[in-house]
Parts: sequence; C-alpha cells; structure tokens
Amino acid sequence: MTAATARAHPNIALVKYWGKRDEQLMLPAAGSLSLTLDAFATTTTVELRGEERDAFTLNGAAATEGQTERVTAFLELVRQWAGASEHAVVRSVNLAPTGAGLASSASGFAALALAASAAYGLELEPRDLSRLARRGSGSACRSIVPELAIWHAGIDDASSFAEPIAGPAMAMVIVTIDGSTKAVSSREAMRRTIATSPYYPGWVSSTERTLAEMAVACGAGDFTRVGELTEVSALRMHASIQAAEPPLRYLRAASVAVFDAAEQMRAEGLEAYATADAGPNVVLVCRPEDAAAVAARVEGLGQVRVVGAGPGAALVEEPVEPVEPAPDAGVPA
Ligand code: DP6
Repeated sequence: MTAATARAHPNIALVKYWGKRDEQLMLPAAGSLSLTLDAFATTTTVELRGEERDAFTLNGAAATEGQTERVTAFLELVRQWAGASEHAVVRSVNLAPTGAGLASSASGFAALALAASAAYGLELEPRDLSRLARRGSGSACRSIVPELAIWHAGIDDASSFAEPIAGPAMAMVIVTIDGSTKAVSSREAMRRTIATSPYYPGWVSSTERTLAEMAVACGAGDFTRVGELTEVSALRMHASIQAAEPPLRYLRAASVAVFDAAEQMRAEGLEAYATADAGPNVVLVCRPEDAAAVAARVEGLGQVRVVGAGPGAALVEEPVEPVEPAPDAGVPA
C-alpha cells in the first residue's frame, strides 16, 4: 500500500480571478494575486490499496456525488501524469466552512494535488505542482505557494502557474456574515458573467492593469497601494458579476456595511481595505500591528477572526484516519 498526506491552506485574492479562457485546461482570463492564510487548513490522505474505484470522504462522511466526481476527475489527471491506473481512497478534513466564500476548494485541491502526486510517485517541482492544482480549482494553484502568490495567467498549460512574490507584511480580518453554502457556485457564476455581463471585457482588461500595478506595489512594499488596489479589484469583480443576467449578487447589506466600516476606519487614520469573494463574507486587509484594532471595529458586524500569512502546501506525517465505524469505501452510485 502506498499513501501520502498533505496539508494546505486557503488563500484570499487581492487581485481577483474571475473567469476562464479555457475551461478544460483551467486557464484564467487574467492573472491574479493572493495571500495564503495560516488558518482553515485542509489535510488530505491519499491511499492506494487496490480499490476498484475511487472513494472520497470529507470530514468523516462520504462526500456528495458532485464532490466525488470532481475528485475522481482530478485523480484521473494525476494517473495520466503518473502513467498509473490504480484507484485511490481519499480522506479529507477541512477546517473551513465549505462553500461560504472562503475558497475551501483552493486548500482542498492544493492538498489533494500534493498528496495524490506523492502517492502516485510523482516528484513535482513547485511550479508543476501549482499547474496540477490549477486543474482541480483555479485558485488552488495559489495555495501551493506560501504567503503572497502571483498566478501568471499564461498562454498555455505550461505557462499558467503561481509562484511566490515578495510584498509588505499583512494580516486579514475575516468577517463571516453567513457560513452557509452559496446558492450559485463560482464556477457557474463565472460562466454566466462571461456569457451575459456587458462589463466582463472591462473586468478582464482592467485586471491585467491592476495586476501589473499590484506587482509594482508589492515590490515597493507599499501597503497602502496594495490595499487600495485590493478593494478596487474586489469591487470591479462584483460589479461585473452583478451585471450578469439573470442577476447574481453575492454582497448583502451586511457585507456592504463592512466596506463602509473600512472606509470609516481609513478616514480616521486606521488603514483597512475590504475584499469579498463569491459570497457575502468580507475580508479586511490591514497591517499586522493594526489587526486587533481593525477587528474590534467590526465586532458585531459578523463573526470576526484575525488570520495571518501562512505556509504553502506541505507533506505531513499524520494521516487522516478513517472514522469508526470505517466509512463505506464505495462511491455513491
Ligand atoms: C471569487 O478557484 O473557486 O474566489 O477555478 O472554477 O474552481 P474554479 O473557481 P475558484 O474561484 C475563485 C474565485 C474567487 C476569486 C479568487 O479567489 O481569485
């Protein structure tokens, strides 16, 4: 029996990824930039023990059919890369609220990419591991990388990967407004935005400029500019999403209240900048030394949690143990 266990963390994009140029290869329409977090880890064990089909348990229970299909499709790709045919048993423990806009697919596919590639005997360079993770979920390619990651959109499979980029020290204050699963997945919402939003071409062209500017601001260690660009990128992404038909709107009144709070803090000299993914929760970006003060200012607007920059995907010793009684190894038909 061969087995490997890996751990990865979610990331929050400062320059957002929204939409693919190539769905099959998972090439994004534009590049993006993110901070890998030090919380909400996903730990995944991949075991090859001669099963007849792939099996996937998440947090101790059989995963849904949709989740299992996505994992199986990803394992197919790993088997292709490895020239292997044996099926796998996958056990994952995810500490993030799945589907609540905290990009659990990013930590999930980053951990799976590393654990599966190791179990199938592939020894991948970080760049190739990032390329592999990208095929599971676009944003997962950034969770391979510690701290700040830039995902180069690239022009083909070989050139689309994330790598580290230096920048100013940052912390994030996560304001969870609603921890439930979102109604429209980001994958589906991206398709709808591309197909129907008149603002989508503007989103793509402006993101290329924003990313170039963000890379300069990071290089200069300019926290203020990084923060300003972060908020601009988020609001432009949501503007393009909101212009889709039928309409899609992830931000609620309570989310907008957090954007208002950030504006108010800045007016008072406390620098915080807001961003939000495909969900109602808002993340404030601030200097690490300001995190406690920023968190105190949004207490009451949601469930508040301060997080910092975290490590890239890594192999770990401790496997995810099957829960007793051992979960059914079969995939639901
Ligand atoms: C809003 O990476 O979850 O969080 O590539 O279809 O799996 P797929 O989408 P996913 O999208 C993340 C979108 C976002 C912005 C971001 O993280 O850059």
